[in-house]
Amino acid sequence: MRKIGIIGLGHVGATIAYTLVTKGIVDELVIIDTNDDKATAEEYDLRDTLARLDTFTKIIPQDYDALSDADLVITAFGNISSIKMDGDRFGELNFNAEAVKEIAANLKATTFNGVLINISNPCDVVTTLLQQQSGLSKNQVFGTGTFLDTARMQRAVGQALHEDPKNISGYVLGEHGESQYTAWSTVEVKGHPITQIASEKGLDLESLDQQARRGGWLVFSGKHYTCYAIATCAIKLAQAVLSDAHLACPTSVYIEEYGHYIGYPAVVGRKGIIEVNKISLSVAEKAQLDRSAKIIKEKLVH
Ligand code: 2OP
Repeated sequence: MRKIGIIGLGHVGATIAYTLVTKGIVDELVIIDTNDDKATAEEYDLRDTLARLDTFTKIIPQDYDALSDADLVITAFGNISSIKMDGDRFGELNFNAEAVKEIAANLKATTFNGVLINISNPCDVVTTLLQQQSGLSKNQVFGTGTFLDTARMQRAVGQALHEDPKNISGYVLGEHGESQYTAWSTVEVKGHPITQIASEKGLDLESLDQQARRGGWLVFSGKHYTCYAIATCAIKLAQAVLSDAHLACPTSVYIEEYGHYIGYPAVVGRKGIIEVNKISLSVAEKAQLDRSAKIIKEKLVH
């Protein structure tokens, strides 16, 4: 029996819930929010889809104990009013750091021992706090991190080359935020190094890297939140957990060297992070990763 819990039913959590139900990905879905009316609204908006679907999902609202036997919990809590356009993703830190205390305590009070995928921002900091306070292992907890930023890099490169983004491989690494960067030495287009293509076609890699970094703000500027891409990333990771896919992808993963979570390639399966996928980076790329890690650490200690 496939069972997922979602904590936080804002635009992202609700989009994830809708996708899980309409795609028939889970048998049981626990939905939790601090706002009872919102949770009831989402519960019944989801229940009202069931008569028109070929699958059935048991919807369980507002019940942490129901998470005890869940395979996976996705956290997508936040405070949209503290997000400032063109800012960074640290605006939500104070609010979300407080929320972590209650959520982690509530989870610890259950017998939940599955995987926790965090979306809440600042993603790498909040993922680190959730692991520290939930009692779950460093492998059981990870974040969406630069899995989303990498999708935005794939989109930007795909647009520039008129390619399906799925034909672009490689990674955006570091913070899910302003200090992220595209490790161009890892990026290929249908198996060809982007660096070779860039010189042949006169691609502006700096601009493409910035398009990835600012992709969230482009969406946010028009609708004051983002939801589809981040929810799709979370669903892909959730399916990798449920099916023990051993999916190799960039996520917000615990890196011993830094002592916290940061966007880096890992392998995702039933138990969460199966392994950190050590890749080779140029000296400059490693320095960018160190710089990004320093920024995350500074936010953790304050
Ligand atoms: C984004 O970049 C929500 O931080 C997420 O869309």
